[in-house]
Amino acid sequence: MYREVIEYLNLERGDLIIDATVGLAGHAKLILERVIPNGRLIGIDRDKESLQIAEETLKDYKGKYELYHGDFRYLDKIFESLKISACDGIFFDLGLSSFQLESPERGFSFQSDGPLDMRFDRDSYISAYDLVNNLTEREIFSLLRSFGEERYSSRISNLIVKERGDHPISTTGELTKIILKAMPYKGYQKIHPATRTFQALRIAVNRELEALEEAIDKSVYLLNRGARVCVVSFHSLEDRIVKKKFKYFSSLKKLKIITPKPLIPSPAEVTENPRSRSAKLRVAERI
Ligand SMILES: C[S@@+](CC[C@H](N)C(=O)[O-])C[C@H]1O[C@@H](n2cnc3c(N)ncnc32)[C@H](O)[C@@H]1O
Repeated sequence: MYREVIEYLNLERGDLIIDATVGLAGHAKLILERVIPNGRLIGIDRDKESLQIAEETLKDYKGKYELYHGDFRYLDKIFESLKISACDGIFFDLGLSSFQLESPERGFSFQSDGPLDMRFDRDSYISAYDLVNNLTEREIFSLLRSFGEERYSSRISNLIVKERGDHPISTTGELTKIILKAMPYKGYQKIHPATRTFQALRIAVNRELEALEEAIDKSVYLLNRGARVCVVSFHSLEDRIVKKKFKYFSSLKKLKIITPKPLIPSPAEVTENPRSRSAKLRVAERI
């Protein structure tokens, strides 16, 4: 949703914009085009490898941007360390990038075999391997239920615990096989049977929902009057948080909701990029 994000951020020359999930800097580059020559962009990401690629993408804008390795849940601390008190827009493009998904060694995908990792930040301690091999059956069950909304949480968690009795489950391939074995129904399904389990583990490993809640709370107080916060989410758990937070701050007269209904990608965009099919954009403006 490149066009919509750029339009809804209401960019002006001279703005200071925070891309809290800079990734490979696709959005960042378009934002910079609208705010230079005297504007600036701060790009944040938990993933050092993505930041290296972003650096390359933005090389023609030297001096106009800064990249910061960190978690957006600490946005206030990041502002402090960059000696900024407020900005003219904050953008969140949640979840993971195609680059991360398509790198088997990062362990995000059930489509290719790799280590059970799923950490956005490879310096952080807990990986999917730790959760799958150390949580109790009950804990795995509730993780799959709450972060994956997985119908077969009970069957999957039960089989995980049985299978890891012999040897630890250490690859995405092994986990996928277990999930497939746990499914009662083996025929055609709209989404791959491992989708929800992988989503749940990724959310838990990276503590994504807590990070989002904290980041929106902090963003409100880091925006100048009239500045906007734009959030693209990819599943209902994230969208629910954004919706609820915007509503809450609107009741406090801190935010004005610009998108009462979230914007969704056009059919043409979904055809071109099927991963965008579940994207939702919500926008609010600081009062
Ligand atoms: C969908 S991608 C962003 C793609 C980006 N908009 C672009 O145009 O290339 C999401 C990015 O957010 C990063 N990320 C996820 N959670 C984060 C967090 N709590 N703090 C900082 N970065 C995070 C991921 O590492 C990933 O690179």
